Amino acid sequence: PEAVPAKIYQSYDLVDKRIKVSGWVHRLRVSKKYAFLVLRDGTGYLQAILSGDCANAAQALPLESSIELYGTITKLPEGKSAPGGVELVADYYKVVGLAPSGDDAFTNKVQENADPSILLDQRHLALRGETLSAVMKVRAAFLKAVRRFYEEERLTEVTPPSMVQTQVEGGSTLFKLDYYGEEAYLTQSSQLYLETFLAALGDVYCIAESFRAEKSHTRRHLSEYTHIEAELAFLDFKTFLQHIENLLVKSVKYVLEDPIAGPLVEQLNPGFKAPEAPFMRLEYKDAIKWLQEHDIKNEDGENFKFGDDIAEAAERKMVDTIGVPIFLIRFPVEIKSFYMERCKDDPRVTESVDVLMPTVGEITGGSMRIKDTDALLEGFKREGIDPAPYYWFIDQRKYGTCPHGGYGLGTERILAWLCNRFTVRECVSYPRFTGRATP
Ligand code: 4AD
Ligand code: MG
Repeated sequence: PEAVPAKIYQSYDLVDKRIKVSGWVHRLRVSKKYAFLVLRDGTGYLQAILSGDCANAAQALPLESSIELYGTITKLPEGKSAPGGVELVADYYKVVGLAPSGDDAFTNKVQENADPSILLDQRHLALRGETLSAVMKVRAAFLKAVRRFYEEERLTEVTPPSMVQTQVEGGSTLFKLDYYGEEAYLTQSSQLYLETFLAALGDVYCIAESFRAEKSHTRRHLSEYTHIEAELAFLDFKTFLQHIENLLVKSVKYVLEDPIAGPLVEQLNPGFKAPEAPFMRLEYKDAIKWLQEHDIKNEDGENFKFGDDIAEAAERKMVDTIGVPIFLIRFPVEIKSFYMERCKDDPRVTESVDVLMPTVGEITGGSMRIKDTDALLEGFKREGIDPAPYYWFIDQRKYGTCPHGGYGLGTERILAWLCNRFTVRECVSYPRFTGRATP
């Protein structure tokens, strides 16, 4: 009889129809009379039962082989569960690509081997696993949600260059490259370029790779990560913070509402609750007080004092203890970047924010930008940066300056929080960090 070609997600609605599905053998269990197979095609999983000759042949079918599978979709009775609530009663299959069996099998090498370095060498195969592929689906849904939010807020997407001759976040993490005999870098952040678009396009954003030569291994640092950055014109610090709050609340809400990603978040992070506005605002000076009161020490093992950088461990202890998202605001000038605007009521501190999430710590960093040329040149001087290569950035102040602000959100960091992953490496397809650029 005829078979309707279908993707697995479509097959769930084709009860009593004979269908043809193509995919990879995800799981296989054989008994005397039957073979129970789970097929995967990226849109879902389909449970199939094979009998007779078909079952006999399937005994030798290695996992990860690709096949075309034919059969009739039947609704499962109450009490029996399978993806889509259906089972395929298979009558025929055809091998498209046979996978290795025995010692070379994917199962032995990857699925059953928990050694992280082998899993990283075999990342191209590990991606086929249920957990990693689920995180990749949530990642796609999150990026879609962010774009939806920006569209609603009338931001225009732009594509700044990745090969640049200016730094944004300090010389120590620059990846240098030989650019036709000149020194150039892989971009650390698209911020400076985004600022130049304001007078051309109004509020803008980009979703681009940023590169950081982070020498140490941590749970939350990659050498290449997907950076969501936005820049907004003619607004004040308070409105700026509300915009970030809206971005986080709405993008997470859209992911949870997504019919594919929502259930995956629940599966990866059971009981996850979307955060609600308003987020807690905590001034840097009060965070220092909090750290002192809780006897948490700084990098030198001493009591925290005003002006100290709050490094990863202390930051995470604080946000995990407080247990809710925090907008940590008004950092001192000296521990932040050259471009940050000072607070009018206290010029020792800046109109800056780090968004901290429990389990991860900082997921977003942003600030209002210095809007006057002289103050900006002062910033370059303080950081020991030669302003000459930044002439185009400085021109932004010269040709019709305006109050403006922007931020960068680390995609892998917010996913680590949303999907409850221990490290950001689990939130990117092919992680890059010291010593790892393959596959
Ligand atoms: O705090 P950062 O360094 O800020 C900037 O780059 C600004 N110029 C962004 C802007 O205002 N447009 O980086 C922003 C965010 C961090 O909060 C973090 O989430 C992420 O980028 N991030 C990293 N993620 C993974 N690996 C790394 N090595 C990261 N470095 C920063
Ligand atoms: Mg930061």
